[in-house]
Amino acid sequence: MTETAKRSATISVDGKTVELPIYDGTVGPSVIDVRKLYAETGHFTYDPGFTSTASCDSIITYIDGDKGELLYRGYPIDQLADDSHYLEVCYLLLYGELPSAAQLEDFEFRVTTHTMLHEQMTNFYRGFRRDAHPMAIMCGVVGALSAFYHDSTDITDLEQREIASVRMVAKMPTIAAWAYKYSIGQPFVYPRNDLDYAANFMHMCFSTPCEEYHVDPIMARAMDRIMTLHADHEQNASTSTVRLAGSSNANPFACIAAGVACLWGPAHGGANEACLAMLKEIGTVDRIPEFIERAKDKDDPFRLMGFGHRVYKNYDPRAKVMQETAKEVLELVGVTDSPILQVAQELERISLEDQYFIDRKLYPNVDFYSGIVLSAMGFPTSMFTAIFAMSRTVGWIAQWKEMVEDPQQRIGRPRQLYSGAGARNYVDLSKR
Ligand code: ACO
Repeated sequence: MTETAKRSATISVDGKTVELPIYDGTVGPSVIDVRKLYAETGHFTYDPGFTSTASCDSIITYIDGDKGELLYRGYPIDQLADDSHYLEVCYLLLYGELPSAAQLEDFEFRVTTHTMLHEQMTNFYRGFRRDAHPMAIMCGVVGALSAFYHDSTDITDLEQREIASVRMVAKMPTIAAWAYKYSIGQPFVYPRNDLDYAANFMHMCFSTPCEEYHVDPIMARAMDRIMTLHADHEQNASTSTVRLAGSSNANPFACIAAGVACLWGPAHGGANEACLAMLKEIGTVDRIPEFIERAKDKDDPFRLMGFGHRVYKNYDPRAKVMQETAKEVLELVGVTDSPILQVAQELERISLEDQYFIDRKLYPNVDFYSGIVLSAMGFPTSMFTAIFAMSRTVGWIAQWKEMVEDPQQRIGRPRQLYSGAGARNYVDLSKR
């Protein structure tokens, strides 16, 4: 944000005129600063769902929804997905620049040497029912980290914030993999520091003490890409939740647990699970028209999962990368004529030509193909959102750090338009 506004907007309320400064970002829409609006006019702004509200000034991630562009610290997501790798992207998001070779080596070392969980946490897992959803376990276990790592919860201490950040990035794969292992009744598999981040996660999910497990490099690369594509997405619902939780100075583990809870919903991170379920329900290409009609029917709550996005009004750039990855992984596992893939491709083709979808700018989002990839990799649908949460943790942490280090930061406290009852007297139970 520029220090001094060069332009302003004028608003007149009840005969009183107020000048509101306009600030320009580097790219993207400018903002009208309404902070003094209430003090000067006695009015709030009304914006349910925050469709027109910038909640913060950030330099991390930029999305141009009309162009279908996603930049992490200025770098396009497709370049990062093709040429970089997840831990380098983590460094970029956390520290603002691509690392030198020495910086990357040091960062990878720090992450790798924090991947184990406190051994007592295994008892914590055992308190859950075996059929608990991995996201239910993740909400609990991530929040519980603050009970195990007291030495990194003082948010006023830079060093502690740094350690907490590295710990979160390092431990999330272990937490997610163990949620999976617990749900299938297999022993927890400890991290292996000789494997890279993505391969280590797959090892913890799929190996057992009984036999050697070899992580296929194509699978590890696909996993790495999924994580890179999901690493950050500016002020979405879960990130805003993390920031709001953090604005009260809550510790970082508690804030990330709040983000995990928000991500779980089917309108957000749960969409890839819902999308795969939908593709399976459709089953065959000939049933697609029936589902398209349902999606258009105002009286039917059904929506095409994996379609539409609050910000993208063009093809989600992550969906393009994910589509390529889906082909690679399906080829590797020898499934080139999967009915689900056929349904997905045909659904995409039809909807891109259908006026309802064209008018509303509804394009496939990243979740449309990520479920197919994860399923082909051997993950059950219940793990999809957990993998999303693991991948997004670095974005949450980067955004949380940015907020905590912002001198303008204040506790988040939205206001409301109250349309309930006015003050009235309590009526005794016998008189109601
Ligand atoms: N299928 C059918 N119609 C849709 C869909 C869909 N998936 N998404 C939006 N629409 C329609 C709405 O009915 C509405 O139509 P109308 O103008 O005739 O009333 C119009 O498009 C606008 O819809 P909104 O709900 O206002 O759009 P919003 O930006 O609030 O919603 C959302 C975005 C929640 C993602 C929505 O598109 C949706 O529910 N999609 C399916 C779930 C999904 O895939 N979520 C993943 C998001 S990406 C992520 O979290 C990583």
